[in-house]
Amino acid sequence: MAPAKKRTSSVALKILMAVTGIMLVLFLYLHMIGNLKIFFGETTFDHYAHWLRTIGEPLLPEQWYLWIQRGGLTIAIVGHIWAATVLARRARRARPVKYAHRPKVQGSYAARTMRWGGVIILLFVIYHILDLTTLTLNPNGQQGKVYANVVADFAPARWYVTLFYALAIVAIGFHLRHGLWSAFRTLGQQKPRGERIARATALVLSLILVVGYLSVPFAVLTGLVG
Ligand code: HEM
Repeated sequence: MAPAKKRTSSVALKILMAVTGIMLVLFLYLHMIGNLKIFFGETTFDHYAHWLRTIGEPLLPEQWYLWIQRGGLTIAIVGHIWAATVLARRARRARPVKYAHRPKVQGSYAARTMRWGGVIILLFVIYHILDLTTLTLNPNGQQGKVYANVVADFAPARWYVTLFYALAIVAIGFHLRHGLWSAFRTLGQQKPRGERIARATALVLSLILVVGYLSVPFAVLTGLVG
């Protein structure tokens, strides 16, 4: 008989999912708040982008904070996907025979869409970095001219870019709603009243994020920002 492979407990994996998920949500909130600075005009927004590169100075050299954040986000994304994959595989193994009649479990719709939502979000992040960080795919593509780059990105003629962003942001909203709710459960919340509060909190936090993110491309599309 082959020696038993040491396996990470499912509880540990769920905690890893919750903790890495919360790290990503924190980034999403900070990034959304930063993006909203676009409504204060070009100077303010470009100054904010410049500030991002100087966080921690003079203790840290220029851009070091940004690289530390990038490292942290990469570890969080890899950990999140790894834990999700192992947990999904275990769940499938625990029930190798499909249900003849799948019971309508509340929340199962969200759970099923988590995987595809996750894939869409990952593809979006890759596109987004090539678009607004490396500027490879940006029609303006000028380092330091972040306002102009965003305005060029969501110009009405490039409506398909706005559409792709909107789809990804809505996918993030659904992913987050289910993810936050699961995280609340993993981290100990299971009573009915608490569950109702957890559900509502997950919904509100996701909605704020979706509206905040969508407001930027739509403000450019409608000429409010430009
Ligand atoms: C319409 C919505 C969004 C806008 C207008 C936007 C805008 C930007 C801009 C302008 C940058 C470059 C910042 C700079 O170099 O100073 C950036 C970077 C980034 N954005 Fe977004 N973003 C949006 C949504 C998102 C979403 C939904 C995610 C995550 C799922 C995301 C993740 C990132 C990441 C990871 C970076 C790279 C940060 C770095 O340089 O390390 N963004 N975004």
